[in-house]
Formats: sequence, structure tokens, C-alpha cells
Amino acid sequence: MKQYDVIIIGSGIAGMNAALRFAEQNKKVLLITKRTLQQSNTRKAQGGIAGVIAEEDSVEQHVRDTLVAGCNHNKKSAVQFMVQHSTAAIQRLIDLGVPFTKEHNTIALTQEAAHSVRRIAFVDDYTGAAISQTLTRHVRQQKNITILEHAFAADLLVEKGHCFGVQIIHKNKYKNIMSGLVVLAAGGPGQLYLHTTNPPIATSDGLAMAIRAGATCKDLEFIQFHPTALHLPGKPCFLISESVRGEGGYLVHASGKRFMKNYHTDGELAPRDIVTRAIFEEQKKGPVFIDIRHKKRTYLQKRFPTIYTKLKSYGIDMASNLIPVSPAAHYSCGGVVADLQGRTNITNLLAIGEVAYTGVHGANRLASNSLLEALVFSETVTKNSCKPTKKSEQFSIEKTEKIPPEQRKKLLQIRRELRTTMWHDVGIVRTAMTLKHAQQSIKTLEQKITPLPTNNILGSEIKNMLIAAHTILTAAQKRKNSLGCHYVE
Ligand code: SIN
Repeated sequence: MKQYDVIIIGSGIAGMNAALRFAEQNKKVLLITKRTLQQSNTRKAQGGIAGVIAEEDSVEQHVRDTLVAGCNHNKKSAVQFMVQHSTAAIQRLIDLGVPFTKEHNTIALTQEAAHSVRRIAFVDDYTGAAISQTLTRHVRQQKNITILEHAFAADLLVEKGHCFGVQIIHKNKYKNIMSGLVVLAAGGPGQLYLHTTNPPIATSDGLAMAIRAGATCKDLEFIQFHPTALHLPGKPCFLISESVRGEGGYLVHASGKRFMKNYHTDGELAPRDIVTRAIFEEQKKGPVFIDIRHKKRTYLQKRFPTIYTKLKSYGIDMASNLIPVSPAAHYSCGGVVADLQGRTNITNLLAIGEVAYTGVHGANRLASNSLLEALVFSETVTKNSCKPTKKSEQFSIEKTEKIPPEQRKKLLQIRRELRTTMWHDVGIVRTAMTLKHAQQSIKTLEQKITPLPTNNILGSEIKNMLIAAHTILTAAQKRKNSLGCHYVE
């Protein structure tokens, strides 16, 4: 069994780009991913990637918008660093071959909430999928990268504050793999919530692993809810990109009456936390919709092909029907504390992407800054030097155990109840009482099966979800006043 210079956990934009950059330095990289390379949150990103490209834009303006959206809770130096590197980051994607949508031969830019200018580069409404496909192509060609798909990262191997590898579950066996550096790029905790735009893999494994290893975390109470996910009973949650509002979509009641101006002068393009709470409030009066019927069908088909087709498959014609929407958990603004080079408080453990807290998002992330953050810090993380670990190779082949059907049923029920609790009690609007209620419920769930069977992937995921939920809840209880995504009534 080989030793690696670097193990990267996660195959979103952060993980794949870091793998490519380390490989270019001739490092031996192991890229592990829970399912296939392209199953990630990145793949689901529709809107785009923000950056200073337009002539009328500037670093100062992008920084200012990020700080305003983040309620000035951001780490300003990190925001400046990210935005200063935004143009180069987008150029990196162009160089790799991401087919950004163009207008008059230059990169077209779209508008999203709380941006004072058009500054979001996009590939129609499937930007993340296009990025993911492009990176996958490069990663598969790079000889210095070993790809391990369907490999579940079970734990970080840490001793006396030093990380020296990862324990994985692969083909029903546990294996310990050693490396000089471990990069955590494992995404977010979206699946902790009953309604989420995130894929099923987003079960907060990276966050929980880091917490178990003693990593410092910050700002976990700031869970961002996307205002507009498709809301059709019985149908899976599906993102209706903010760029639909950016390109002129209104939020309305069934009667066609708009309401956003009652909440913010920027109306539909107010910061995301404000739009989310406005919809949450207005839903008490009746269902809420996006109305973009005033745009031509040919335009909608061309600009939003994914959304148009998906809605059509559900019998909704966005050129002539209202689109029913509701908020859904979308992104974690906090995470494992990491500096500008991804370094955490654990030696040789680096964190990038959604799992990391760099301080750029503050209390509420500015739209399309997430792909940017992930990309910028996946470049700087490769500045870390890696010495081979002194740990001798250990290779355990302990087998995982099959879950008996009764136990499986129980585990799935715990997961369902946890997601329901988080949605209702640690959701868009929180009160001291709902948080207390969540505390009780999580405790009860933790005691439903003791000990939790973690010698299989489902059990491990649920353990991770319980750890992450507990930590998010504790953070929410500590912050008594409302700020950004953390709203306490
Ligand atoms: C969207 O397309 O609305 C998502 C953009 C983002 O979350 O940054």
C-alpha cells in the first residue's frame, strides 16, 4: 500500500482543483470521494462564480458588497484576499476549459442578490456541473492523482495534534492511509435539514470528523437558507437559481401581488437572509411564487435550460406559469477555522471549501462567493509544504458489518427525526424555546440506539449528523442576538 504526499477528502471544486495543483508540483495525491467524482455540491451550483471582471466593478466594491451581505461579521482581510484573487481564479477556470457563457465575445455576467453590479460569470444555469465536468476530465488525466471513488472517510488519524492520515471505508473494509498532509474539502451539512438544496451526500462528515479530531470551529450558527427552492409536494427539493430573480423574476403571491419592497429597498435582490425571512413570513398568508412570465419563452429556454426542462417535467411552464418556491437549507457560512493557506489548529490538517471557516462569508454569504472562496483557497492551500509522515504504514482490513433490516429502519427514522428537528427548531427563525426543544430532541435521538452502530457507512453518517447538529445548536444557543442567517425571535 502506497504512502501519499497529500490525501484530499472531497471532489467538489475545492478538492479537485487542489488535487490538480498539488499534482502539478509532482506530489503524489490521493483524492477520495464518497460516491463518484462528480457527486458534489459544486455540481448542483447553478448561478455562477463572482469576481471582479466588469469594467465598472472594483475590488473595493466587491469587498463592500460581501461585507454588507455578511453584516460586517466577516474577516475583512480574508475577504480582501479572496476578492483580489477573484479575476485570476476565474481565469484559471477559463484556462482549464470551463465554457463560460459569452456575450459579444466576452464573458457574460449575471446579477444576483446584494451585488451592486453584474459580476457573476456563469455557464447558463449549470455552472457547477460545467466546472465539475471540466475538473473531472483533468483530474482523470493526471498521473500523480490516484482517485478512490465510493470511499467513505471515516476518521482523521491524529495523534498529539498532528494529522498523519485518514481512516476510510472502501469496499466494506476499513483502511488506514498515511500521508504528509490531509486536505479536508468534504463540503457542508445541508442534509441536517429536512429541506435542502444539497445532494444526499452532504451529511457533515468532514465537519464531524474535524470536531472529533479536536479542530477549532467557528460561526456554525450561520446556516444559510436559499430563499427559492422549488416547492412541489412529493417532488424533491430543486434550486431555482437566484439569477432567475437577478434576470427579472418577481416574488409574488398567487394573486400576482409582489411583497419584497415591504421588506427591503432592493426588493427581490435584497441579501439572501432577508429574502428568506420575508418568504417565510409571507407563506403564513399563502403560497409564494416566482413570476418570470414577462420574459420571452425563447429567452428562458436559452438562459435557464436546466430549470426550464426540470419544471416542464413537472408540468410547469415557466413562460406561462408561476413557479412555487420555498426556502431550503443551502450553505454553512461557518466551519473548521482555517487561515489563508487552509491551515487549521491541527498540524498537517488543512481545510478548504464549505467545510472551512475562512471568515469571508460573515453572518450571511454573498451569492456566488462560495465557488470563488473554494477556488481561491484551493490554490493557496498548495503552498503548504509536505514532509512524508514518520508514521509507519498501517493497513487495517477490519470488515464493516451489514446492518440488520430492523436496525436500518431505526437508523433511518433517527435521521428523519433529526432533520425535522433541525428544520423546525434550528431553522430560519429560532427562539430560545425552539433551541431548547432541539436540545432535548437531539439528546433523545442520541439515546435511541446505544451504542450507535458505526461499523457501517449509514451508522457513521448518522453519528456525524448528530455531532454536527449538536455543535450547530450549541453555537446557535450561544449567540443571543439576531445576526444575518442566525435569526432569533
Ligand atoms: C443560486 O444559483 O441561486 C445559488 C448561488 C449561490 O448559492 O451562490
